[in-house]
Amino acid sequence: MPKPLTGIIIGAGHRSLFYADYAMKSPDKFKIVAVVEPQEHRRNAALKKHGLTENAGYTSVEQLCAKGKIADVAINGTMDQLHVSTSLPLIETGYDILLEKPFAVNENEMWRLVEVARKYKRKIFICHVLRYSPFYNLIRRKIIEGRLGTILNIQTNEHVSYHHESTAFIRGKWNRKDVCGSGHLMSKCCHDLDLIMWMLSGNAPVAVSSFGSKMFFREENAPEGSGTRCLLDCKIESQCPYSAQKLYLDNKLWEIYTWEDIEHLGETSEDFRKEHLKTTSRYGRCVWRCDNNIVDHQSVMIRFSDGATATHNLVAGTARPLRTIHILGTNAELYGVFDDSKFEIRIPQPSAPDNFEKEEYDLNITGDFHGMDGGHGGGDMRLVADFVEFIQGGQPSIACTTVEDSIFGHLVGFKAEDAMKNDMVIPIHMQ
Ligand SMILES: NC(=O)c1ccc[n+]([C@@H]2O[C@H](COP(=O)([O-])OP(=O)(O)OC[C@H]3O[C@@H](n4cnc5c(N)ncnc54)[C@H](O)[C@@H]3O)[C@@H](O)[C@H]2O)c1
Repeated sequence: MPKPLTGIIIGAGHRSLFYADYAMKSPDKFKIVAVVEPQEHRRNAALKKHGLTENAGYTSVEQLCAKGKIADVAINGTMDQLHVSTSLPLIETGYDILLEKPFAVNENEMWRLVEVARKYKRKIFICHVLRYSPFYNLIRRKIIEGRLGTILNIQTNEHVSYHHESTAFIRGKWNRKDVCGSGHLMSKCCHDLDLIMWMLSGNAPVAVSSFGSKMFFREENAPEGSGTRCLLDCKIESQCPYSAQKLYLDNKLWEIYTWEDIEHLGETSEDFRKEHLKTTSRYGRCVWRCDNNIVDHQSVMIRFSDGATATHNLVAGTARPLRTIHILGTNAELYGVFDDSKFEIRIPQPSAPDNFEKEEYDLNITGDFHGMDGGHGGGDMRLVADFVEFIQGGQPSIACTTVEDSIFGHLVGFKAEDAMKNDMVIPIHMQ
């Protein structure tokens, strides 16, 4: 039996720890042997979880790399703006990497990472987890089988719910491009852009346009009676859907983010958390009076080398979280709702009741494709399993998403940001 692949956690935050759980589920295949994390409480917790001593803990990638190569791979789950600077030393030291998305925050640093990975011939695997969800994976297989014919157009939508939006993107750590590095499109929809590129594999994007703005979550739209903090000076807190009391204390939503800055204190009382939201927590702020500088809606239009087109709409602050995909081909069309785990293929047929035949796929019940549970519609753990297999020389799966496979999606995202800012159509030239 081959030895398990050995891995190092880089940034012991939510994502890395989640992926590293694969080592707990399949210890014969994967083993964590070190942790790089500047925050002591997180480093120690991750070491303990994986049965490691303090000696296996490092405060920086540089400190780790000074030891030479001590494992097979690294799982890099640092925040967006650190992906490239933390990955370069790892690549130079000899590590293959499972790297979170977006793998870079601008075009220059994207090409820098690609260039260094090519130079050292390292395998960099990007966490495009949705490719691995049974829903999108089966859609891709229908395209490979030729069910839709030649694709003329793809339309995707992502609606970010009011509670997710207010927590992560208005009050939270993805709320400023100058701090986190990513705008809203790249931090949230680089998955959708990647899915469009994947569905149209073999076809290159050649031009992008985009419109969007921060329209609603701005101070001049603050309702009368609202204050600076929900629990401090707001007269309409009890009717406001963004109330910190309702979201974080009553309904306990998004706890991994909301209590991040007090997690080092361990268990805290509800009174303590309430006071925290009232006084210092970024999550206690009024959503119309935050320091967010990202869009709350953006539309992207893409033209491909064979003439196909695609659009993606990001709309934030909606009642229901939703991802939809509509693919229109010369033989048939496919329409699916990710959050329902259902899609259908519609085939022209004059003798059918609606003048088309319908094939329905319900991934909640279909035998072979069950397992939508877990992060990202079942994508998270499947991705790690595929990464481990890929590194050990196995046949890459159809979802395998190396840094090379991820260039188009990222490039389109960066160009879309420029197109939106400058009201332009931007051509795409590959390097
Ligand atoms: N694939 C997905 O669908 C998906 C979903 C959510 C988030 N993400 C991405 O995952 C990444 C991580 O998000 P998260 O919520 O887990 O973040 P996090 O803040 O919980 O974790 C990041 C960790 O990195 C540590 N860190 C900071 N500087 C470091 C350094 N120089 N070297 C090593 N570690 C360092 C931080 O202390 C922190 O513990 C982000 O880029 C985010 O956009 C991806």
